[in-house]
Amino acid sequence: MTTGRLRILLLAHSFNGLTQRLWCELADRGHDVSLELDIADDVTREAVRLHAPDLVVAPFLKRAVPEDVWRRVPCWIVHPGIPGDRGPAALDWAIREGRREWGVTVLEASADFDAGDVWASASFAMREATKASLYRDETTNGAVSAVLAALDRRAAGARPTPLAALDPATAGTWHPAPKQVERRIDWERDDTDMVLAKLRAADSTPGVLDAVLDEPCHLYDANRGPAQTALRAVGPVASVRPGAWLGRRGTALLRATRDGSVWIGHARRAQSESFKLPATLACPAAATLPGLPAFGAHDRAEIRYREHGDVGHLAFEFHNGAMSAAQCERLCAALDAAAARATRVLVLEGGRDFWSNGVHLNVIEAADSAADESWRNIQAIDDVAERILRLDGKLTVAALRGNAGAGGAFLALAADRVWARPGVVLNFHYRNMGNLYGSEYWTYTLPRRVGLVEARRLIDERPPLLGRQAESRGLVDATFGATAGDFEAEVAARAQALATAADHAAQLDAKRERREEDERAKPLAQYRAEELAQMRRSFYGFDTSYHVARHRFVHRAPHSWTPRHLARHRAGAT
Ligand code: COA
Repeated sequence: MTTGRLRILLLAHSFNGLTQRLWCELADRGHDVSLELDIADDVTREAVRLHAPDLVVAPFLKRAVPEDVWRRVPCWIVHPGIPGDRGPAALDWAIREGRREWGVTVLEASADFDAGDVWASASFAMREATKASLYRDETTNGAVSAVLAALDRRAAGARPTPLAALDPATAGTWHPAPKQVERRIDWERDDTDMVLAKLRAADSTPGVLDAVLDEPCHLYDANRGPAQTALRAVGPVASVRPGAWLGRRGTALLRATRDGSVWIGHARRAQSESFKLPATLACPAAATLPGLPAFGAHDRAEIRYREHGDVGHLAFEFHNGAMSAAQCERLCAALDAAAARATRVLVLEGGRDFWSNGVHLNVIEAADSAADESWRNIQAIDDVAERILRLDGKLTVAALRGNAGAGGAFLALAADRVWARPGVVLNFHYRNMGNLYGSEYWTYTLPRRVGLVEARRLIDERPPLLGRQAESRGLVDATFGATAGDFEAEVAARAQALATAADHAAQLDAKRERREEDERAKPLAQYRAEELAQMRRSFYGFDTSYHVARHRFVHRAPHSWTPRHLARHRAGAT
């Protein structure tokens, strides 16, 4: 038995959020972690030979681990289901079946899928949310707990428990991936709860195949809409026949259900080569639908503002954390309105799943000129960053409930304080997107926090960082909150304390003085111009790496190799 520091190979279909989180958690505990993306069996065999792992952990696989690998090296599969649940669509079924509790299980790889002996499991309460949201939060936290518990068991010399020894009522039930025909919405019969459950169980992938007007589309990003009574009170809504498309607001479309309505935020045309887009962009014919007013303050508002005492809270719940030029423009207007309020602190809450992931690559991809739209989007997100940097009438806090990446992570650094949940994953770098240089004033905000040497290192090495690792590197000021709810409550309390602190005025003065000093040393406009000069080359220059990388990212193209900085076992290998 090997105890202490282990050589661990992560084997995954992609370096998704859960895999990044495990990478960070295991490395943080001193294990020697490397990654191989599951591209071909021989490549996996080669990775095992090169890394010589004590253990292979598979957090996110779409294929079986080769038998000769799991027979030679212990291999743990992280299954997003309770012990005994088996199959490739565990969370889909849990949502569809209205489970109140669900879980994550770590089991030994074996000849049958998800049928190996169980090392550990963790459970969590289900929430009314999409599959992707449950995966990014509760499932990811559960996976970390279960893998750590399994490591403890292994270190203590324990053996895993055979599935057959578990409760026979639940043990070993195989659930196949639901077919589209099983996911289909019957608009005449399904009530709003059922419609939402079907859509959420298929979000973010594969979506529910349906149609927007007459265009076959997969539907995503569903939210409960207004009740029938509210709909009838609105003039332009002619028919509330179940399934009827009622109107649009922003880029979302409202559709009647048997007993209410649902907003559909995103859609993907059913034809090949299409990708997910805001619904009105995916289906331009929807422009003929009537524009609808907000049916109440919280009726699918992407940007929400509220106040508690001296503190304003601005949430921007952009799907997948992607911020198009139009969304950035709306956020600028919301920031201006929040700045004008008589509050002392402004908390920037971002979204629940992602605080922000930077410019909207899908909207850019869909534009007539991707270069022009990239240029427009980067200017618009820079405007957001600039507003935060120049906001001198109050203290600002970026409160990271969810992950942030690329321009979205740097946007957070524009705030005076950055608070985060300890387990969020932050990617402070741009290079993965076709060697982008990046903007959002990162050349000002990053060295200001960590110094030039460390800034260069972060950008070059591209490590995913946990919130608590980012804190120890000075990128984040404080981490707290085991759950999203705990985090939100503590953010509110800390922000209130900041607002009522005896030295609040002194802190504001110091902030203004520092900004003025920094401006004299090098104006913000100069940082922006220098960054954008680099970005312009990526958008319009002879090297098209960014356009190629974005195209592959948006179309979810499979990986053809593992990046060298993650496949650490390949360092020096030919
Ligand atoms: N624009 C559009 N969509 C984006 C996006 C962006 N900037 N960033 C993430 N997404 C989408 C993904 O396409 C995916 O969509 P889907 O699940 O609906 O299919 C979803 O958000 C989750 O992304 P995923 O990559 O699966 O999440 P992750 O947690 O595994 O990885 C990142 C997070 C930030 C590392 C990764 O999403 C990323 O590299 N994003 C691009 C960031 C970027 O380069 N921005 C532009 C420069 S500012």
